[in-house]
Amino acid sequence: MTKTLYLKVTDPQKDRETIRRAARLLQEGALVAFPTETVYGLGANALDRQAVEAIYAAKGRPLDNPMIVHIAALKELGRVCRTVSPLARTLADRFWPGPLTLVLPAGNAILSVVTGGLATVAVRIPDHPVALALLQEAGVPVAAPSANRSGRPSPTRAEHVLEDLEGQIAALVDGGPCPVGVESTVLDMSGPVPRILRPGGVSLEALREVLPEVMPPRDGPLLRGETPASPGMKYRHYAPRAPLYLLEGKEQAVRRELIRLCRRYRLQGLKVGLLTAAPFEAVDGSLALDLGGRKDPGAAASLLFAALRQMDAAGVEVILAEGIPEEGLGLAVMNRLRKAAGENILLCD
Ligand code: TXA
Ligand code: MG
Repeated sequence: MTKTLYLKVTDPQKDRETIRRAARLLQEGALVAFPTETVYGLGANALDRQAVEAIYAAKGRPLDNPMIVHIAALKELGRVCRTVSPLARTLADRFWPGPLTLVLPAGNAILSVVTGGLATVAVRIPDHPVALALLQEAGVPVAAPSANRSGRPSPTRAEHVLEDLEGQIAALVDGGPCPVGVESTVLDMSGPVPRILRPGGVSLEALREVLPEVMPPRDGPLLRGETPASPGMKYRHYAPRAPLYLLEGKEQAVRRELIRLCRRYRLQGLKVGLLTAAPFEAVDGSLALDLGGRKDPGAAASLLFAALRQMDAAGVEVILAEGIPEEGLGLAVMNRLRKAAGENILLCD
């Protein structure tokens, strides 16, 4: 156990000294959690093997799951990647800083603990003033997975990081809630046609404007003998403690099933949590949180992970979640809900 230093940053300019302190810790090989526009990251100097190894230990993360390297500016890309194709350059120009991670050929300086032994490296420039100030000040590329215990919902608020990692990491930089709320879109640039490995903060529609031929993510279980292109995809993820049932299908059929199942579980004496796509009055004794995803998938994205954690904190025993249309950030939200549900997906009609 170490004492986790809590560092509040409201304005990276005014709080320059605090940023310096966090940056020094990174330079010394310590673990520092910090906010990005997507979720909080758990950062370590990407060029320091021991520091990166400590991330795996703190998170309880499988060793073959590689990490995203965060940089402050385009000119640092050469330190991380062997080559940058003209197409990768176009995407970086269009979407960085922002929630797009590019999987590119790894440069020589990149350690195999960062890439999980792959020949590629995932890299992005985050669009958050605190993250950018910290990266600039540290002056090294920073490897950072989401700052949750492996398998738990990603942290979108500083208190989520403390819930999972207090006493395991040197410092937490609190920069307030993360605006996007789901992780970055991971785009594999290594094949002939770029492919989305994980849908995220940059929507498929936005990518298609620049890259009409982009391959959409492939959901669903792996075929026998198939290796996941992105190692992180094979694990059950984003999971609250209670089992989560995801109800998909037509709006009215989903709502009918939600009410029916909620009553049934209530009769069994279970505390039920509802994650709805549109307003709904809680059935007696249940906890209903409306994510508003039917009208505004971006709102659902920003609320989702905090809502899953709230369900746990309230001692909910079973969660029923309504699916939302897979448009805009709805694609990323549904990907996370399906991962949290595992096998428990109910098609309603
Ligand atoms: O928004 C985000 O992406 C956040 C913030 C902190 O930047 N980070 C994040 O990291 O979500 P993490 O480690 O939780 O997810 C990284 C994903 C994993 O699914 C991993 O398998 C994949 O990116 N990945 C990393 N390196 C890869 C590579 N070389 N090839 C394919 N997939 C890779
Ligand atoms: Mg993660």
